[in-house]
Amino acid sequence: MNPIQGSKVSVIGAGAVGATTAYALLTRGAARTVALMDINKAKVDAEVLDLAHGSEFNPAADIIGGTDASVCADSDVIVFTAGAKQKPGQSRLELAETTIKLAQQVLPDLVSVAPKAIIIMVTNPVDVVTYAALKTTGLPPNQLFGSGTVLDSSRLRYLIAQATGVAVQNVHAYIAGEHGDSEIPLWSTATIGGLPLLDWTPMPGYAPVDETVRERIAHEVVHSAYQIIEGKGATNYAIGLATTRIVEAILGDERRILPVSTLATGFHGIGEVCLSLPSIVDRRGCDMRLDTPISDEEEAGLLASARALRATIEQFGL
Ligand code: LAC
Repeated sequence: MNPIQGSKVSVIGAGAVGATTAYALLTRGAARTVALMDINKAKVDAEVLDLAHGSEFNPAADIIGGTDASVCADSDVIVFTAGAKQKPGQSRLELAETTIKLAQQVLPDLVSVAPKAIIIMVTNPVDVVTYAALKTTGLPPNQLFGSGTVLDSSRLRYLIAQATGVAVQNVHAYIAGEHGDSEIPLWSTATIGGLPLLDWTPMPGYAPVDETVRERIAHEVVHSAYQIIEGKGATNYAIGLATTRIVEAILGDERRILPVSTLATGFHGIGEVCLSLPSIVDRRGCDMRLDTPISDEEEAGLLASARALRATIEQFGL
């Protein structure tokens, strides 16, 4: 993919997720300038140097780094990954207090140097941090949203592809709600090559995707991060790619449908909350959520997810 001329994407946080996102942006030619910001100068300088040394192998791009918001000046997109790491067995919602405070501290300076930037929150608990970021910055909800369940939906699609033997690119299925323990798969609208998954006839050598298989897949999606964190301390590759996909949809004005976490006001009477449903992402950010049909069971799950998020929002007085 040719770099989108003149575009600048800044990544806040040079930890595993931030550095991998910067790497994915560079290898996919998603921006002409990638800026990496972290308060740890030694870390950010080392990541920038290591990324820059691969320049020959990537589409043309400049990689710069710094320890304050000035390195992000005039960004077209800002990706916010800074925050506490999930420890083995720790839920994402348990990170809320630390990461909300960090976002509230760092975001105002970023908005001042890049007032037009589309901001993608990735830090967990991403739905709650996205809500806090909207309140802190006062930005319109199309301009600031979270990576949401884009990653979870890619996990779901991968597992469906494995279970059915078809190419993952031909699986269309979404995880909705919280990027976390209360997320729900939208089985009723999942399709393979336009065929409803619930009516899928197994190919030779493959088992039906029956309720037992669907429950296994749903459990694996929800518990993927815990499993990976237990083994290597963090997840980074898939979230870096998922985030890069969102950036490409913005800078390419693609109007791509992605389950990003956006502000829902008065969601079924629950009050303001950020959660994920299939939405259109383009150069304006995300200003249209699809009215995806969902089953009664899925709606009940979505409401439970919204209530879990609303409880955390109220717990921290946001
Ligand atoms: C995960 C992190 C990004 O689900 O929350 O891998």
